[in-house]
Amino acid sequence: MKDIRLLSEWIQQSRFTVVLTGAGMSTESGLPDFRSKSGWWKNYDPTTIASVDAMVANYSLFHEFYTMRLKTLAGCSPHRGHYILADWEARGLVHSIATQNVDGFHKAAGSRRVYELHGSLKSIRCSGCGRPGTVEDFLERADCRCCGGRLRPGVVLFGEALPQDAWNSALRDMKKADLVLVIGTSLQVYPANQLPSMTAGKTAFINYEVQGTGSGFDMAVQGKAGEVLAELDRMIK
Ligand code: APR
Repeated sequence: MKDIRLLSEWIQQSRFTVVLTGAGMSTESGLPDFRSKSGWWKNYDPTTIASVDAMVANYSLFHEFYTMRLKTLAGCSPHRGHYILADWEARGLVHSIATQNVDGFHKAAGSRRVYELHGSLKSIRCSGCGRPGTVEDFLERADCRCCGGRLRPGVVLFGEALPQDAWNSALRDMKKADLVLVIGTSLQVYPANQLPSMTAGKTAFINYEVQGTGSGFDMAVQGKAGEVLAELDRMIK
């Protein structure tokens, strides 16, 4: 309780708070994360499925995996934690959110300044000419209507560069932040995992598993994102 109360005070005192989220922010919405025991990478090898080589060499498996993720996403929606972060932005308690998540839930919950570091699952485009496609076309395994190329989700695959604007905005805000909240991420993936170290401000790690990853933060709060955010919100309101 001490830590959460102290963190609620930090949030209220901070003039520029930035949030970094990972897949643990969306598991309470019903979306699997990647590296927990129930995560996607327990059943799939990311290098053989979520990489450009995989997309080129084995489009069927690539298409099957992202079809499954799109269908899973269609049945899920933001949870109270996403709405609390959007409310905190509206009240000036949060400046921006840099997210590794591709589910679009922060924007769907009303957050406006969201930097999607790994892109967005529902933004389909042609892997050949780059023109946008539709989720329906992708699910039906249709080819690009312009060039006949293969359609793909607009997510950053392993080995691809992050969207420059999102990265630059996240880096800019991290450097200005006097408080960074890191929520629901194992911080295993570069370069997103470098962002918390870019701030001179205080850092707080909110995660279901805090051993190891939580070290090096000014504060580590063990718990579920939605529950911890709701507790913080009750203290701040
Ligand atoms: N509340 C808080 N933390 C949670 C919750 C929850 N409800 N559920 C899971 N977690 C924690 C897990 O314990 C784990 O430490 O969230 C973390 C999720 O870590 P990962 O599964 O590694 O997800 P993430 O860090 O977002 O992965 C980064 O890896 O595969 C790539 O592109 C993919 O964006 C992803 C990136």
